[in-house]
Amino acid sequence: MITFKNVRKTFADGTEAIKGIDLHIEEGKLVALIGPSGCGKTTTMKMINKLIHPSSGTISINGKNIAERKDVDLRRDIGYVIQRIGLFPHMTIEENVALIPKLKGMKKHEYTKRVDELLDLVGLEPPVFKKKYPLELSGGQQQRVGVVRALAGEAPIILMDEPFSALDPISREQLQDELKELQSAIRKTIVFVTHDMDEALKVADEIVVMKDGMIEQIAHPDELIRHPANEFVRSFIGEERIQSALHSFSPKEIQVTSILNQPAEDSTDLPVIESTADLKAAAKAMILNNAEALQVMQEGIMIGVIYKDRLLSELAGLERGA
Ligand SMILES: Nc1ncnc2c1ncn2[C@@H]1O[C@H](COP(=O)(O)OP(=O)(O)OP(=O)(O)O)[C@@H](O)[C@H]1O
Ligand SMILES: [Mg+2]
Repeated sequence: MITFKNVRKTFADGTEAIKGIDLHIEEGKLVALIGPSGCGKTTTMKMINKLIHPSSGTISINGKNIAERKDVDLRRDIGYVIQRIGLFPHMTIEENVALIPKLKGMKKHEYTKRVDELLDLVGLEPPVFKKKYPLELSGGQQQRVGVVRALAGEAPIILMDEPFSALDPISREQLQDELKELQSAIRKTIVFVTHDMDEALKVADEIVVMKDGMIEQIAHPDELIRHPANEFVRSFIGEERIQSALHSFSPKEIQVTSILNQPAEDSTDLPVIESTADLKAAAKAMILNNAEALQVMQEGIMIGVIYKDRLLSELAGLERGA
């Protein structure tokens, strides 16, 4: 859906904010950009709705280079929650949330209903909050309205720049859950910037770790924790999280390839298991075949062997950790 090809951004003052990134974001996915302050997250995001223009490289949405699209048209397809809220101060909460649906030509009775539903969803009772102005709300409440306003637009793509950063931990977790639920229900494509690794691990389908204008790793949360690409990613995730996450995996989620050994000469005589099978399936296969080892196959080719003692100690370790 959104594709970056060798995108660079050097600002007028010479700051090289983005130093050549390639990124593909699939439709309906929630992708989190994470990395230290100043690594280029906001710049990356703002290039998607053309608030910032790349110095070189291309960004396309559904195969079409966004440089060739009118800003106004493009932004109609892209909801945006900015780092510092950005509600219109002279409009009530209701007017703020209804803005995009109205612009899109939604009828009054339709958007009124939608505004109520959305406010309810983030715990802002419509009768209390609808007629208030942004400055009459707390920072966290304003942020909720910002999130809701982006969702109200029914744009297929939503950019969220640290949308929950001003919230207390409890509201924050609640909104993370709600976002996750909403996203699986409405299948929007969401690009989500955060500083918070726990938040990224919780909400994202894919995590993009950035450092100094470059991408260090793109991976599914499980994959990121289990196989950090380098020391930077590892330290950014934090050893404690890596350990506790490893131990919270159930044997069902761990593939046999995680305990793969080199094959021996007589390995081809062993009972077979597919490389995509998990540890539980492997244990079952060993019991059924009364085998001490299995050969692991991938697309019809043996890629290695797994041994019973290693499997048992792995399973015991998982149980201890759980
Ligand atoms: N308009 C600008 N002109 C010059 N440099 C800029 C401009 N905007 C951003 N930068 C620089 O580009 C780099 C990336 O900034 P960006 O805002 O993308 O970082 P970020 O990852 O979003 O950081 P944070 O987590 O603090 O929000 C920084 O070094 C920043 O100072
Ligand atoms: Mg930023």
